[in-house]
Amino acid sequence: SLRVLTGITTSGIPHLGNYVGAIRPAIAASRVPDTESFFFLADYHALIKCHDPARVERSRLAIAATWLAAGLEPERVTFYRQSDIPEIPELNWLLSCVTAKGLMNRAHAYKASVDANLASGAEPDDGVTMGLFCYPVLMAADILMFNANRVPVGRDQIQHIEMARDIAQRFNNLYGGGKDFFALPEAAVDEQVATLPGLDGRKMSKSYDNTIPLFEGGAKGLRDAIARIVTDSRLPGEPKEVEGSHLVAIYDVFATPDERHTFRADLRAGLGWGDAKRQLVDTLERELAPMRERYEQLIAQPEKIEQVLQQGAVKAREIATPLLARLRDAVGLKPML
Ligand code: TYM
Repeated sequence: SLRVLTGITTSGIPHLGNYVGAIRPAIAASRVPDTESFFFLADYHALIKCHDPARVERSRLAIAATWLAAGLEPERVTFYRQSDIPEIPELNWLLSCVTAKGLMNRAHAYKASVDANLASGAEPDDGVTMGLFCYPVLMAADILMFNANRVPVGRDQIQHIEMARDIAQRFNNLYGGGKDFFALPEAAVDEQVATLPGLDGRKMSKSYDNTIPLFEGGAKGLRDAIARIVTDSRLPGEPKEVEGSHLVAIYDVFATPDERHTFRADLRAGLGWGDAKRQLVDTLERELAPMRERYEQLIAQPEKIEQVLQQGAVKAREIATPLLARLRDAVGLKPML
């Protein structure tokens, strides 16, 4: 059977990009028969970028409530916190010891920090922690711990999943003796939403401060964010350029094919950007409003969410504990008798 796994880093408030790139496709995949799903809060990953404990705590609750509000069924899915599974950091170490440093040198997140430092005349590794440098190994441990074959993510994560494959292969070759410990994971990227643009047209990202929050701030928060989407200065009545418009790209992800067609035709015929934004809000609200209502109920019951996550951790460890024991044996860490 198919094993689907994905995680979200708990360093911020979930945004539309997280929803369309990971949460929505992952929940759809979890409903396909013969699929086992593993969705988790990447809270160890959060510590790489965020040294503010209150923020990590808030983010964990918000992201957990978001998954549940978006339709995750805890009976059907193993839903847990990375930091509740001690086998993951232990596997991280086993994998670190077979991972070439050169592979990590090529990781985008690390390279982006180095490039930014060089551009500003700083030392290449200024502000780069070992956590950031080794980030892809921990992510490989997340995936390989559950032998996931499919990982629904946005485009920015593809390289990490390719690295997880490399690391899995290396471990299998070194220790497998002909039989493989790890399945080779594949990224599942929905081309239409591979990179959802943000307010300014760049990739929607916490680090660019251009996100549209999913539920935070309520319906008003959503309207206010949409109002800040940057458009060209063509006036109502003037034909709009729809190719390359990020407002249209966001609309597309929530609209039916008929609506997409009509929206383009209306814009070409002179629909004003203000009216276009109102239509965008309505189309988003159709999908998000019922979820937001559940989100607001859930966020008010942290003890309930805590219970769901603890039950998830028990289920996750039923898989992680025996696999880790086999791996320890394989590398030479067997008990002596
Ligand atoms: P993170 O928390 O940055 O993002 C969570 C998910 O949201 C997707 N995403 C987007 N998709 C489309 N358009 C966008 N603008 C956009 N912004 C974010 C991301 O691609 C991701 O799928 N390293 C991961 C978390 C992680 C993980 C894992 C994922 C840790 N271990 C194991 C999968 C498997 C991260 O930081 O994602």
